[in-house]
Amino acid sequence: MTKGAEKGAGAVAPTAVIRGAALHAGFLAAPAQAELVASLAEVMARAPLFSPVTPWGKPMSVRMTSAGRYGWISDRKGYRYAPRHPAGMDWPPIPAPVLAVWRRLVSAARDPDCCLVNVYAAGARMGLHQDRDEADFSWPVLSISLGDDALFRIGGKSRRDRTESVWLRSGDVLILGGEARLAHHGVDRIAAGTSGLLEGGGRINLTLRVVD
Ligand code: SIN
Ligand code: FE2
Repeated sequence: MTKGAEKGAGAVAPTAVIRGAALHAGFLAAPAQAELVASLAEVMARAPLFSPVTPWGKPMSVRMTSAGRYGWISDRKGYRYAPRHPAGMDWPPIPAPVLAVWRRLVSAARDPDCCLVNVYAAGARMGLHQDRDEADFSWPVLSISLGDDALFRIGGKSRRDRTESVWLRSGDVLILGGEARLAHHGVDRIAAGTSGLLEGGGRINLTLRVVD
């Protein structure tokens, strides 16, 4: 695909581009952030947060759940998209205010299939990885940060590529598309107490994905 036709590129100018990823710093104002958090309470009530383990049996420090046709899970059987929560219930629908962000920044023609909800307590982190369980990498992954600041690291397609770090703050939206779609990325740490958005502190990250 040519650069100009890249899905999610161009509709709204990013505030910065980091290793090919488009950062929309401060994209969501405080009322919009609060609306998202309220809509997620409903998701978490219907599909409770769980603590995944890696395929190697190591507990992950984030807790997660999902909304949409698919949820992303990890357990001894591997990383994958699953049509149901590990406890057996359907994933709830992706909340309208979440879809609205995707439609404004990526596409109004195709909604995402999965909204992965990652919840970081003060000590949680996420190791460097690629998002590569999706069928079509021409669709970007859109990430929304809510709550405490996170030190996000992004590199390239190869694990050995140079990385850059950026603080993601509440209301920031980051789009991993185009050359950055398969970039390695992770969260090194959370700066506790930097946001008052979430009761009890911590951070919620939403990633929206087209799965199949
Ligand atoms: C992820 O890669 O799934 C999460 C990224 C983030 O928490 O910012
Ligand atoms: Fe990821």
